[in-house]
Amino acid sequence: MSEIIEHLLAEAVTKGGLNQKQIAQIVMFRIFGNKSGFLHLENLRIGQIPATPISRNQLVKRDITSEKLLLQTTSLLGEPIGYTQESNGDLINNFFPHQSQSKSATSDSYDTELDLHTENAFHAVQPEHLVLLCLRQDPLKEAVTYITSIERILPHLTDDDISFFFTEPYNFLSDYSHTEKNCRIDVGQEQTVLYGDRSAPMFRFDPYFMVASSARGQAQLDKLRTIAWDVAQPVLLKARDMLIIDNRKTAHARSPFTARFDGTDRWIQRAFAISNQRFYTAKLGKQSRVFDLVTAL
Ligand SMILES: [Fe+2]
Repeated sequence: MSEIIEHLLAEAVTKGGLNQKQIAQIVMFRIFGNKSGFLHLENLRIGQIPATPISRNQLVKRDITSEKLLLQTTSLLGEPIGYTQESNGDLINNFFPHQSQSKSATSDSYDTELDLHTENAFHAVQPEHLVLLCLRQDPLKEAVTYITSIERILPHLTDDDISFFFTEPYNFLSDYSHTEKNCRIDVGQEQTVLYGDRSAPMFRFDPYFMVASSARGQAQLDKLRTIAWDVAQPVLLKARDMLIIDNRKTAHARSPFTARFDGTDRWIQRAFAISNQRFYTAKLGKQSRVFDLVTAL
């Protein structure tokens, strides 16, 4: 498998379809970031998109223009990676409504809101960026992606709040499971919401999967969730739109939307990027693009 992936990756880097201006926008975003914590690109080349499947075993996609576009983008951000618990470690994950996931809080659902979350906040190898590529918008244009950023949240926090979130550990639960999505597993990941440089903190936030150790901790978490939603920015992804999210500075959410299961449903592809693969290789003693659960480095 890995030889095929490396070949595809090399082809994506040279023929991924991004133009010079878009390449510059992506690299600028990686280096300098922005206040919103995301970059929205439109009208990209995604190739021929077949009818939206209704289950993963019906997923057949011969034109790989969109996959190459995603891999080229992750290569500009760093290295594409996968996780064994997400589509068996595939570097490109496909999301479309699954009837069986109705009312469940997973990326395969549609009629349930996905609350704000930093991707894989419990994982020691957290993606630096995630890239969402819209292959098809939902027919009723209801699906909204929300992004909240620590830069937009900070002006609403007091100095005491900031000190609290830099020092108060929360237990970040994992949904890590090979067989089931959305379980809440205690992997002993006690960590703070804010970390890094106090003048420009990094942020991890996943209220549904965070356990406070005191009443004050819970009250502060509730307060932060309200502020995070107040400053969240909505994005409506149309077909051929790409959303690059800085996962170390933001949390994102998705509104519910209607599914028809007739080939016209919303279809999103996602890829993750890390920018420091050699650091993880040195710490873990293993070079890989696909990570199992890691809770400490
Ligand atoms: Fe997500």
